Amino acid sequence: MQNNTFSTLFVGRNLIKLLAVDSTNNFLKNLVSNSEPLPEGTVIMADNQYAGRGQQNSTWEAEPGKNLTFSLLLRPTFLPLNQQFSLNMAISVGINQALSRILGEGLSIKWPNDIYFRDKKLGGILIENTIVGSDIKTAVVGIGINVNQQLFAEELTDKATSIFQILHKDVNLVQLLAEICNALESLYLQLRSGTCVNLKQNYVDSLYKLRKAGLFEKDGEVFEGSITGVSDTGLLVMETKNGAREFNFKEIIFLN
Ligand code: BTN
Repeated sequence: MQNNTFSTLFVGRNLIKLLAVDSTNNFLKNLVSNSEPLPEGTVIMADNQYAGRGQQNSTWEAEPGKNLTFSLLLRPTFLPLNQQFSLNMAISVGINQALSRILGEGLSIKWPNDIYFRDKKLGGILIENTIVGSDIKTAVVGIGINVNQQLFAEELTDKATSIFQILHKDVNLVQLLAEICNALESLYLQLRSGTCVNLKQNYVDSLYKLRKAGLFEKDGEVFEGSITGVSDTGLLVMETKNGAREFNFKEIIFLN
């Protein structure tokens, strides 16, 4: 469906709305591999995503009809493989820019790409790249935002939040999607044209617990540290009593 609600050039212009699907990332990956070439910027959005996937083989739960669960197709062939993390930063910063327009202060990015409001998770990102030779041929950018969901399962109550819980009112899902697509397109175009000069700084400045002492765990070792930034490849850089240390994704657990 050509979508005229959006004022973007290409992100979200080809919007495919599904009533129910296992995972919008799976659906988009299947479309990319099985059908006619899909335009860059295609967005698959689902009312009911019943087997959503999260980072590290986790699941992503979203009450049907209440939340944003969507996947965006990008073709970042211009991005050298060792700069893959830039896409991650652009997407996280873009989402936070769009959300901050309705939520104001309180948003942050929990490294590498969880969207946080105060100390609770508001959204998540799952980027799945297809690499051919030395090119990122396609990136399927899956985004889940808790929007109008009022309650979460008991085990998530202390960990998850939604826009409804913050604003105490419902938000129109397609309008919010349009705002997010606008912000993502703007950052992606800057990335593509090499004019995204402040991306890393913006990303680091948005990091959850930046320069705050906290407890972390690696391989059973609990230590105190303070996040100071990220390396060019996206490792988390932390100041500890043993000096600066760098951590890979999956290697470290935030304890508080
Ligand atoms: C995470 O925080 O673990 C990432 C969650 C990503 C969830 C989104 S919802 C839309 C897209 N489809 C999926 O199956 N997952 C992503």
